[in-house]
Amino acid sequence: MPDPRRSVAFIGSECYPFVKTGGLGDVMYALPKALIDQNCDVRVIIPRYKCIPWKYQEKMVYRGAFNMDLCADGRSFYVGIMEYVWDGVVYDFIDNEEFFGFGNPYTNLVDDIPKFCYFAKAALAALNYMNWIPDVIHCHDWQAALVPVFLRTMFGNTPLSNAKTILTIHNLRFQGVYNIPTIKYWTNLPDYVFNKDALTQNWLDANMFKGGLDYCDMITTVSNTYAGEIQTPFYGEHLDEHLRYHSGKLYGIVNGIDVNQWNTATDDKLAVQYDISNVLPRKKENKHALQERLGLWQDDHVFVIGLISRLTDQKGLDLVNAIIPQVMDGHTQVVVLGTGDAQYENSFRHYEEAYKGSVCSNIMYDEARAHLIYAGADALLVPSLFEPCGLTQLIAMRYGTIPIVRETGGLKDTVAPYNQYTNWGYGFTFDRYEPGLLLDAINRAKTLYFTNRWCWDEMVQRDMANDVSWGKSAQQYRELYLRLKP
Ligand code: ADP
Ligand code: GLC
Repeated sequence: MPDPRRSVAFIGSECYPFVKTGGLGDVMYALPKALIDQNCDVRVIIPRYKCIPWKYQEKMVYRGAFNMDLCADGRSFYVGIMEYVWDGVVYDFIDNEEFFGFGNPYTNLVDDIPKFCYFAKAALAALNYMNWIPDVIHCHDWQAALVPVFLRTMFGNTPLSNAKTILTIHNLRFQGVYNIPTIKYWTNLPDYVFNKDALTQNWLDANMFKGGLDYCDMITTVSNTYAGEIQTPFYGEHLDEHLRYHSGKLYGIVNGIDVNQWNTATDDKLAVQYDISNVLPRKKENKHALQERLGLWQDDHVFVIGLISRLTDQKGLDLVNAIIPQVMDGHTQVVVLGTGDAQYENSFRHYEEAYKGSVCSNIMYDEARAHLIYAGADALLVPSLFEPCGLTQLIAMRYGTIPIVRETGGLKDTVAPYNQYTNWGYGFTFDRYEPGLLLDAINRAKTLYFTNRWCWDEMVQRDMANDVSWGKSAQQYRELYLRLKP
């Protein structure tokens, strides 16, 4: 066990298995667990949304409650703390019917802005109330970005102000931007934080993420390549200049996955479990089961391509839509799992109709189905326009499914391209955001699969053996914590 022990409070808006809409939820679950192995005490603070399944709600224990001043006109709000200790991690749920009684974590900015102004302050107030003063407060994305701002202003005279803060960027596209008077009202933060180097942007709006990036002690993002990309105008989402200014405290640490949660040898959602020694025949059985359950033609020999994704512009779905007709050659099947923008949901529904038996579009969020697709598909598509890290390509590799990705962000850092001359690499990649290049990458994958199965099978086993766990990255986080508080 590395010395010395460090205490860390994670603050974020979602955490698997309580509530998850994407990779942030996975990281909030898996990284704290990995940090425990790095001799850290971790407490995770998230909202107590109504949608958290009852089986978890009923295990929560009342830890205390108080009223907290929040708004500029003195309006105060109830803050309840419900606690659940599980597997060495303490989860504290911030309870407030008015903000979180709604159901889903995110609705629209009109509701979300006040909700996360409240949450950031309530999380700090809860730590103070519990008298748990961590070495580091580790905040995640815009929903927790006001934490460092509150800490260095309104909590400046409390013991908590000894803590250092890290703000991790999981996705810069969402920043929590609203007009200044509204954010002033919902935070009562002093006027001086609304200056152009902190919260204010374009003289008119307040940007919560921007303020947090200024006030935190350290910024991290979820891959090295994305850390560089966000300092350029194309990927910077209008904050590239701000990030270049703060680049001295910006680090990239690539995500991992929880290899116990994603374990083909124990995964009870698969048709048959497998490991590296029997993956080749058993993956075929999973493919068969997938085809049967989804109503696809049952054929061991077709090439099955999976796509598991939020259906939004980020994910490169316009490229996929543009090339599906060229991909459907009678020897290929496509399985889509996702929800999101109506435009993409409808286009995938259309392709299912047009290629009945070969394309299956599952327009839904379904954990169990995701597991079966990871196991039963031969390849997984991740052609993102931008991708801070991406977890689906990591899960795919762990399940012996070959990723086909665009070389951006974490995809570039985790999927070394296959080289036919050295017969080494983990997947197929393309660089420019063009449908023709995606099609070319898919065709290269198919060519290897159909004409050189021996090399393909070797890659399947190589991918399964590849270390995609949190181990190394959790160690890097620990080093940053130590650098902040020696
Ligand atoms: P992002 O956070 O941008 O959505 P990631 O690749 O980091 O992308 O994480 C996505 C996570 O959500 C993965 O665990 C993936 O398996 C899961 N996921 C995405 N869409 C679905 C879905 N429709 N059903 C089940 N799981 C999904
Ligand atoms: C974001 C990003 C994704 C990343 C995830 C977890 O949702 O879009 O690339 O893997 O956060 O860090």
